[in-house]
This record gives sequence, structure tokens and C-alpha cells, in this order.
Amino acid sequence: MSNPVLVAVAWPYASGSRHLGHLAGAYLPADIFARQQRIIGNEVLMVSGSDVHGTPITVRADAEGVKPQDIVNRYHEEFLSQWEELGINWDLYTTTGTPNHAEVTQEMFLAQLQNGFIDRRTTNQLFDPEVKRFLPDRYVEGSCPHCGYSEARGDQCDQCGKTYDATDLIEPRSKLSEATPEARETEHFYFRYSDFNNQLDEFLNQKEGWRNHVLNFAKGWLTDEGLLDRAITRDLDWGVELPVEDLGEGKRIYVWYDAVIGYLSASQEWASTTDDKEKWRHWWHNDNARHVYFIGKDNIPFHALFWPAQLMATKQAIGGETLHLPDDIPANQYVTFKGGKASASRGVGLTIAEGLEKYQPDALRYALAANFPEQADTEISEEEIVRRINDELVSNWGNLVNRVLSMAHKNCDQMIPSPDEITEEDQLLLDQVDESLRTSSEQFDQVELRAALRTAMESAQSTNRYLNATEPWKVLKVDKQRGSTILFVALSAINGIRVMFRPFLPFSSQTLDSMLGESAGWERQELQPGSPLPKPVPLFRKVETDETGY
Ligand code: MF3
Ligand code: ZN
Repeated sequence: MSNPVLVAVAWPYASGSRHLGHLAGAYLPADIFARQQRIIGNEVLMVSGSDVHGTPITVRADAEGVKPQDIVNRYHEEFLSQWEELGINWDLYTTTGTPNHAEVTQEMFLAQLQNGFIDRRTTNQLFDPEVKRFLPDRYVEGSCPHCGYSEARGDQCDQCGKTYDATDLIEPRSKLSEATPEARETEHFYFRYSDFNNQLDEFLNQKEGWRNHVLNFAKGWLTDEGLLDRAITRDLDWGVELPVEDLGEGKRIYVWYDAVIGYLSASQEWASTTDDKEKWRHWWHNDNARHVYFIGKDNIPFHALFWPAQLMATKQAIGGETLHLPDDIPANQYVTFKGGKASASRGVGLTIAEGLEKYQPDALRYALAANFPEQADTEISEEEIVRRINDELVSNWGNLVNRVLSMAHKNCDQMIPSPDEITEEDQLLLDQVDESLRTSSEQFDQVELRAALRTAMESAQSTNRYLNATEPWKVLKVDKQRGSTILFVALSAINGIRVMFRPFLPFSSQTLDSMLGESAGWERQELQPGSPLPKPVPLFRKVETDETGY
């Protein structure tokens, strides 16, 4: 019954503050899913860390005139404290800068070299003749060779998501000087991704229940041109070092080759902190495990195509067994603010820090989850955040809990009341809550988190309707027995509904635990009449609209 589940979450670049789009895109859905999987009894391992390599870091360091490591330290610290504040509950949040990560990366590289899937090639790379440096990845921009987008980066286009060689860019521009980049010969290691087109095709064809946009993107790539071999080293002095001397100084492993290996290296690092350092195998050498990757859509090629190919190419080399391939990649689309893609660097949308300043963590989690861009790009304006918090979270759920617990506390001797006869109307509500628990469990299984949240909220609304129909505040005055029974039923409904909200709202769920006692499992547990019911404290604070500037 208990299955190992790897919740693998995209590694944020430690190159700048992350914004609410990143939070809603990957980290928050992962945390919500992981929490639910733990409640139903699965063995969850949720890992990620800061992606500390590559040109996103060095470009920033160059611009500020500091060392890459200074940039990394600054943002890694920031992320760690924000996960804490947001209740993002990792089993391990590390970085790709650890010795362990370098070792695992090098071990994989050597295995793939040995297996014949990595080879050495002399190629042309763009070079800035003025500053006399090669221009890897983000050091160059130009027009995308696939879609024509004019701000495309050296390794990937933000508009169409395609990857390519920087030399394919149309009208490339150096980010370091005004000089026109020239092609210069240099030597690199290439990963023979093209050897895996058939295996990847089979891998994707077996997948059922994946989000359409993810499967279509990945399959489309294979039918269009298929994967091309790509350089997995760079002319850069920042990154994981090569385990072979051949290329000489000034070459490092490409960030996108090493970052995805983080899922494996972090699992091993986590195991080394437990009493069984081989425990990672329970997730990686186990056909019964389920690996679910939480990423934004710009990361789809790396997770649905390149990473599986890297895993396939490792064969039996790591620990003598094949490594588990991704089972699901529920990538989210983009969050937009006033029509534009959220981007902290361009000042579009709120950063996580700004979000936490304005809203309570659970309120922010709620508003974002209600708008997760699971199927399409989704606008999340501040008006929308406030509306979700005030009109839904506070008025439907927070007030329901407060109203019922207050009434029971006041009228039933500060105890869970003893029910009298349960009517058909009462039973109907409880049956509805139980049915919703089953529905939301299926929605979680499909990683339809928005729908699972709606299911919970609809149950809260049904309970509000039940109260409006039964009017316990009136009944209590004339028939204490019946009034107490209504409150018992409403409390019982709340006791089931809070289970559905628990993965989304960890902080207020704890507050509620302190009033109703803890709950266990994905079910509505029976309340014990006579157990104490303390005076309730409100779960949430309404957002004053002038606080938000509207
Ligand atoms: N750092 C990348 C980004 O922010 C994501 C890396 S995901 C990983 O887009 F798995 F490759 F690490
Ligand atoms: Zn493009």
C-alpha cells in the first residue's frame, strides 16, 4: 500500500530573487502534492536545491563585479529562508555546488563516456574578438532559428522553448561588448542525444495521463527533427569540473547537463544523512517507485527528453542497476501579470519576498493554488489574489470554521456536543464530504491540484448552505438537543474538509489541529463527543484592500 514517491522539483538558479510565477510554477505544487502523498501513507522523498552553475550566475556576478560564489551564497540563503516562511517542506534542499554533486555528475559522465554515448568534437563557438572570450549561453543573444524571436538566448529560446547551438542564432549579439561575435574553433564533449530518439519515442508512447501540453511538446520535438547531439561542456571557468584532462583548462560541464543530475545526487546526499546511506536505491532502483517532476514549461525538453536520455545512457553503471525514469512531468505553464510573463528581473509581478510581505503564507498558497497554470498560461493579478483570499478562503472556509467552533464552544459547554438523532439532511452533508474526499484523492493522483482545491472549497460551501438551511443559532434557543446535533454534524463536516485543505494550508491546519485535535489519513474521522473544544482563534486575516494599493 505504501509506495515510494520521488517528488523531484526544478532547481532554481541562485542568480536572483524568484517571483510568484516560479512559486506557482513548481515549488508550491510540489509541496502540496508531497504533503498529500505523505498523508495517504506513501514514502515521499522530496528533493531539490539551488542551481548554482552556468551563465545565469556568472552574468550576474560580472554585472555586479563580485564572485559567482557571492551571488550563489546570497540567493541560496534567501531561498532557504523563504521555503521556511512558505512552509515548503523539503526532505533535502541542497545546491549543485556540493562535492557530492560533482562526484555523481562525474561518475555519470564517465559511465556514459565508457558506454560510447559521449564523444569529443572540434566545433565552432561564438567568440567575442574585443574581450577575447567565448560567448557561451547567456553571453549571447540573437533571433531564434526556430521561431524568429529576437531576444533568444545562446542555448534556449524563451518564446518557443527550443534549444540549439549559439552558432545557429540569427544575427548574434555579444552581451559583453559591441563587437560582432565570430566563430572560433574549440573542443568539446558531446552527448549523443540522437542515439536515443527511438527509445525516447517508446518511452513517451507508453505515457498515459500526462498533461497534453507536455506530451505534445516532447513528442512534437521527436517527430520534427528529433534530438540532435549537443555539447555538454562549455568554455567557462564556473561549473562542475571534467573528470578527464583531455580538454585542458577553462572548460566546465554545461549547467543543464549537471543540474538534472541533482535529482539523483540529492537523493544520495539525503540518504547519507539517514542511518542507511543506500536508502536512495529505494527510489532509484525500484520499479514500484513513482517519480514525479515539478517544473515550469520552459524546462520540459530537459526533463522529458534530455534527462531520460542521460539516465538511459548510464545503463547499469550507477550501483549496478538501471536508474528509474520519470513517470510523470506535470509541468505548469506560465503565470502572467497584466498579460506579460512574470519575471522578477523585468519587474513584472511580485517577488516571493513581496508576496510574503503582503499576504499570510497560507493565504498566498491558497490564492496561487486556485490559479495554478496547469493547462494554460494564467493571469494572477493582485486583485485576483485578494479576491481569492477575501471572497473564498476567508469568507467560505475561515468564517465557517470560526462560526461553527464559536457556536459549539459557547453553547455546548466548551466540548464537542453529543449528537441526538441524525436526520437525512445531516447524513447527506456527511456523505457529500466523504465523496469529496474520494474525488480529491483522485484529483491529487492526477496532479490536478487546482481541481482538488476546488473540491475542498465546494465542500465548505455545502456546509455553509447546510447551516443556512438548518439555522442552528435559532434552533439552539428552542431545542438544545437538535441545535447541538446540527453543530455536531457541521463540526464533523469540517473535520473531513480540513483533511482536503491540509496539503494546501499547512499553517492554519496546525491551528485547527490545536482546536479539533490532530487528524490522520485521508478520511473524515469520527469526532469524540465530550472532548474539549477551546475558544477558536480566526484562521485567516482578511486583506485590507488599501494594504495592496488597490
Ligand atoms: N535552474 C533551472 C531554471 O531555473 C532549472 C533547473 S531544473 C534541474 O530554469 F533539474 F535541471 F535542475
Ligand atoms: Zn524560438
